[in-house]
Amino acid sequence: MDIEANLIFVRSFRNTFGRMEKALVLGAAGQIGTELVAALRAKWGTENVIATDLRPEALEAPAFALNAMDEPALRALVQEQGITEVYHLVAMLSATGEKMPEKAWELNMLTLFHVLNLAKEGLLKRVFWPSSIAAFGPNTPALDTPQYSPMDPTTVYGISKLAGELWCQYYHQKFGVDVRSLRYPGLISWKTLPGGGTTDYAIDIFHAARKENAYTSFLSEDTRLPMMHMEDAIRATLSLMEAPSESVKVRTSYNVSGIDFTPAELAENMRRHYPDLAMSYAPDFRQAIAASWPQRMDDAEARADWGWSPRFDLSSMVDDMVAHI
Ligand SMILES: NC(=O)c1ccc[n+]([C@@H]2O[C@H](COP(=O)([O-])OP(=O)(O)OC[C@H]3O[C@@H](n4cnc5c(N)ncnc54)[C@H](O)[C@@H]3O)[C@@H](O)[C@H]2O)c1
Repeated sequence: MDIEANLIFVRSFRNTFGRMEKALVLGAAGQIGTELVAALRAKWGTENVIATDLRPEALEAPAFALNAMDEPALRALVQEQGITEVYHLVAMLSATGEKMPEKAWELNMLTLFHVLNLAKEGLLKRVFWPSSIAAFGPNTPALDTPQYSPMDPTTVYGISKLAGELWCQYYHQKFGVDVRSLRYPGLISWKTLPGGGTTDYAIDIFHAARKENAYTSFLSEDTRLPMMHMEDAIRATLSLMEAPSESVKVRTSYNVSGIDFTPAELAENMRRHYPDLAMSYAPDFRQAIAASWPQRMDDAEARADWGWSPRFDLSSMVDDMVAHI
């Protein structure tokens, strides 16, 4: 048994017989939550992973309706269920956030404070909260973006991610809160639809190719962005959360890199499966957002500190999407 398998065995044994760890996932019905809950339950046992969302009907038990803005309800659930770890996935994403900036700010920041404060009080051992490539901006080096770069986000979503990163670091430094974070790139998955982000085209295109053999991209053909297969993103999340606390040296948020491509390159690769796939391009307001983001990330710190390495390249991601959509 390798070290990781050993760790999983010990944890699930303890969870079965001693109930050492119990996770709460906020925003569990979303694109990431759906797959993260399944992965956590496979490791820890179904009963040790509580799924919550505004839309609980999509969730499998144990699950509850919970508005993450409702601090007393969140606190009560954490205490009643003996929660040790929170995975905070509630957010208004980049494209939707630009349509209601104040609401996006309020949702993204208040819910983070609710969780960080519960951890500060000692009610939680560990917190996971995702940041995003959207925390970067036009003055960030776009190619091989280093962990430590100028960050001047142009969207309210990106501003909330950058502020959130700094608050995470602050709670860690001042109050010893064990909060961990990844700057996810655009995540590509087939189990659920994306939730209103600027990288959604890279999922929409697979549905459109299957139905109509044609796709109109809302980003221009040469817009390069960092992306990642959801399986890699879930693996990165679990690895980061299982790393010993002293290995987690970055307490803002880690760069994690997967693949990078443009809409034209993605379409060309997909033509291995859909030879007649017709592409057209009609960039909308999301083009300006994408243009302000990195194109490819340097994730040296994540590799060195807790052994990150992606498994999917462009072709294996495309093959997997085509096989499942
Ligand atoms: N998906 C990506 O490509 C991507 C990339 C970078 C970062 N992220 C980050 O990952 C996290 C999850 O993203 P996602 O793509 O799964 O988002 P999503 O929009 O698919 O899911 C978010 C979920 O939160 C729920 N929700 C919204 N408001 C709520 C509230 N007040 N209380 C409880 N639940 C509420 C929604 O019903 C939804 O199910 C977010 O923080 C996002 O910023 C995602």
